[in-house]
Amino acid sequence: MTVLVTGGAGFIGSNFIFHMLQEHPDCRIVCVDALTYAGNLSTLDSVMGRDGFRFIKADIRSKEAMEKVFSEEKPDAVVNFAAESHVDRSIENPSIFLETNIIGTQVLLDAALRHGTARFHQVSTDEVYGDLPFDRPDLLFTEDTPLHTSSPYSASKASADLVVLAYHRTYGLPATISRCSNNYGPYQFPEKLIPLMTINALSDRHLPVYGEGLNVRDWLYVEDHCKAIDLILQKGRIGEVYNVGGHNEMRNIDIVLLILSHLGKPESLIEFVQDRKGHDRRYAIDPTKIHDELGWLPETRFADGIVKTIDWYVENRRWWQEIISGEYRSYYRHRYGETI
Ligand code: NAD
Ligand code: TYD
Repeated sequence: MTVLVTGGAGFIGSNFIFHMLQEHPDCRIVCVDALTYAGNLSTLDSVMGRDGFRFIKADIRSKEAMEKVFSEEKPDAVVNFAAESHVDRSIENPSIFLETNIIGTQVLLDAALRHGTARFHQVSTDEVYGDLPFDRPDLLFTEDTPLHTSSPYSASKASADLVVLAYHRTYGLPATISRCSNNYGPYQFPEKLIPLMTINALSDRHLPVYGEGLNVRDWLYVEDHCKAIDLILQKGRIGEVYNVGGHNEMRNIDIVLLILSHLGKPESLIEFVQDRKGHDRRYAIDPTKIHDELGWLPETRFADGIVKTIDWYVENRRWWQEIISGEYRSYYRHRYGETI
């Protein structure tokens, strides 16, 4: 079986490749990635050149490039991780989000249809449901929660989901969608909350907490997300959406305090900064469907996963120091008004 993994040089895609090569040694993995600022070939060092793995630098928005990949590789399944993924960047520059996340997905869907690909899996997000109020802990996102997006990022992901479902209904493309909550773990680009706060703390720089730090995210260890996608590929019902999350709601400020405490750094490093525009208050997933239908349950407790993750950043300074490129430095200066 050949699985085409798009966006595999990014955070979750690379972890998914490691998972698949480990768990399914007979599976051939072809990774397509445009290597944007968020994609890092060094992340794939351990699998590069290995039998059963091929890396292709290509852009999912290019029909010609995708036609070549599908003709050469004839994938049995596509797992589409490739995306612009950072909410703050989408607020600054929405158009690339619409181009990559919507048009790029449609280019892949067309190629999959033309080549009779047996499965198209779209990796989506809980952010398509918008947010939940702070004072209603009983409310969770189910697969039936209406799409109600806040940011250009989430709007582009919700649009892509609708296009995927349209290709299934209209053309019979065998598609599935997963909508996962916030992931954390190794190889996450240091613009996202957990790695950003970890590397800033390690470097004794300010930890920029938006607003009062009271917004809530539902955190899942990346390996548990990869296992869920693997299960959906094997046993998921065609045309279905599966929510993925582990009932692990945390306030941002509590995560930041935990990182400081684990690293033995002072709380005075925290700096409360201007809130994100349209900042979603709370995300919380109801994973009943994937649990009942596919038997998925998260395996890594947050208390263990967060320590593993912080320690990974401590032990892999070279990885993040190398990828903090000129582009990231100017982005950081623009957003936070500081040089790194
Ligand atoms: P990431 O930003 O770390 O990686 C994205 C990858 O896509 C990068 O390697 C980048 O080079 C590649 N890419 C971007 N544009 C491309 C293009 N036009 N053609 C080919 N490759 C391109 O993102 P991530 O956090 O790993 O997220 C992966 C997917 O999972 C995304 O679709 C995201 O919406 C979804 N998701 C993320 C989370 C999370 O917490 N990070 C949660 C739920 C869902
Ligand atoms: P992020 O990792 O960008 O994920 P998302 O916005 O997709 O949930 O942010 C997680 C939370 O952390 C979110 O509520 C915004 C907050 N945050 C900060 O307070 N400071 C920061 O510098 C960043 C990047 C995020």
